[in-house]
Amino acid sequence: MDLDGLHVAVTGAARDTGRLLAEAFAERGARVFLSARDLPAARAVADAINERGAGRAEAFHCDLAAPDSVRAFAAAVADRSSHLDVLVNNGAAYVEGEDLADASDDAIESVLAGGGTGTVLLTKHLLPLLRTSSRPDVVNMISACGEVGHHRSGAHPAFYAAKHAHAGFAEILSYRLRPEGIRVISLFPPDFVQDGPRRADGDLTARSVVDCVLFAVGQPRDCFIRAFHFEQVRRSGLGTTPAVP
Ligand SMILES: NC(=O)c1ccc[n+]([C@@H]2O[C@H](COP(=O)([O-])OP(=O)(O)OC[C@H]3O[C@@H](n4cnc5c(N)ncnc54)[C@H](OP(=O)(O)O)[C@@H]3O)[C@@H](O)[C@H]2O)c1
Repeated sequence: MDLDGLHVAVTGAARDTGRLLAEAFAERGARVFLSARDLPAARAVADAINERGAGRAEAFHCDLAAPDSVRAFAAAVADRSSHLDVLVNNGAAYVEGEDLADASDDAIESVLAGGGTGTVLLTKHLLPLLRTSSRPDVVNMISACGEVGHHRSGAHPAFYAAKHAHAGFAEILSYRLRPEGIRVISLFPPDFVQDGPRRADGDLTARSVVDCVLFAVGQPRDCFIRAFHFEQVRRSGLGTTPAVP
């Protein structure tokens, strides 16, 4: 899979899956524009990537729930590059809770502003750079919570709403950008763990999710993988693990 020299932007990249994604692209020779709400934490990730030396990384502030911050990140990327090959819409706040009252009004507003509005705005403002790429991809880290009929997560309803917003956005964008050769690739994983054994009876791991992204982006342009859906082996948080043969 040839990702050498790709220009890649990743949101929410200071920790967890966003960090793994930034590192994985950089390890394969990409130039990564990674952003996070916490700029010092993003800089630490970029420094670690640059010390390893395969690809290069630069850190930016981007709070997806703050439109000015989103526009500033897009403008900063545009200052540094005339094109963008991959935008990974990864950043999204998670809130737990069965009941609507389980989250404060501020938390609800922030979840929807970041995962919904912020993701749309960032894609809008980076689209001109994607359009000048010879191999543009928009990757969306959504969630099984964004699938119609899904109810197995203990996430707060606002998280479900934000992921449905993201899924609806990705769906129409995929259709409308396809004629331009821009692939919009969406992942709908169930609850997954950052580390763990990559076995049939284990939880899905972040490393496997990242490998799906690399696989899809690495495909030749005739191959447009629009979505990854996953069978949920475990019922996370409900304490029931079906036997696996
Ligand atoms: N882990 C799972 O079980 C799971 C399952 C399905 C889908 N997903 C999705 O996959 C993606 C990555 O998952 P993860 O496990 O790495 O999630 P995570 O551990 O909850 O991390 C979320 C990331 O999003 C960032 N973020 C939150 N609000 C933000 C905002 N307003 N602006 C910018 N960044 C923001 C966080 O940054 P801070 O450090 O600033 O908080 C963090 O880097 C997310 O979109 C998540 O919803 C995860």
